[in-house]
Amino acid sequence: MRIDILTLFPNMMSMFFEESILSRAQKKGLVEIVFHNLHDYSLSRYGSVDDYPYGGSAGMVMAIEPLANCIEALQAEREYDDIIYTAPDGEMFSQPMANSLSLKKNIMVLCGHYKGVDERLREHFITREISIGDYVLTGGELAAAVICDAVIRLIPGVIGDEQSALEDSFQDGLVAPPEYTRPPDFRGWKVPEVLLSGNHAKIAQWRYEQAVERTKQRRPNLLI
Ligand code: ADE
Repeated sequence: MRIDILTLFPNMMSMFFEESILSRAQKKGLVEIVFHNLHDYSLSRYGSVDDYPYGGSAGMVMAIEPLANCIEALQAEREYDDIIYTAPDGEMFSQPMANSLSLKKNIMVLCGHYKGVDERLREHFITREISIGDYVLTGGELAAAVICDAVIRLIPGVIGDEQSALEDSFQDGLVAPPEYTRPPDFRGWKVPEVLLSGNHAKIAQWRYEQAVERTKQRRPNLLI
């Protein structure tokens, strides 16, 4: 999978992908992440990519020309399955969305800034608009990092134990059951007996019941 990230802050973004699982995924060739500095596509001498909004409201808008130039330069090199724009008014990001994006070959992610982008860009280039929550960030970089992280870890081979990605919270519409490790007794706080029993069927049943109970308590909306 290849992910092209279009951003005003490539240095801020690239740090996030240089550690741990995401770095290993790139070294193993499972994902290629390429950053594009939108200032490089500026039409002005000063590298600016924003302009005043028509109609005179407050704030600045990302202009269509530099962004379109960057997108079209990439499209000339390969076909993209999706061109994603991170925006607080986008579709709410979810595990099923991460699952479907993890099956794509080439995606672009445009990180929004200021008051957003010229609407014509959304109409004519963007295929998917994604929000990571009902709050407003200073820019789309963190949202893009969240989306990429959730997607990349689902690519086969990225996390060691593939079974564990399938058992994540939300994969089966339930949050994950509680987990324990040694010691079996810490200050009298004991690991549930069933987990030490070695009876796999009973353990699976217990885990399922715990997941249902936790979902009822913490995320009842998932059960509707
Ligand atoms: N940009 C600013 N806020 C955002 C959000 N909540 N989700 C995605 N992109 C954003």
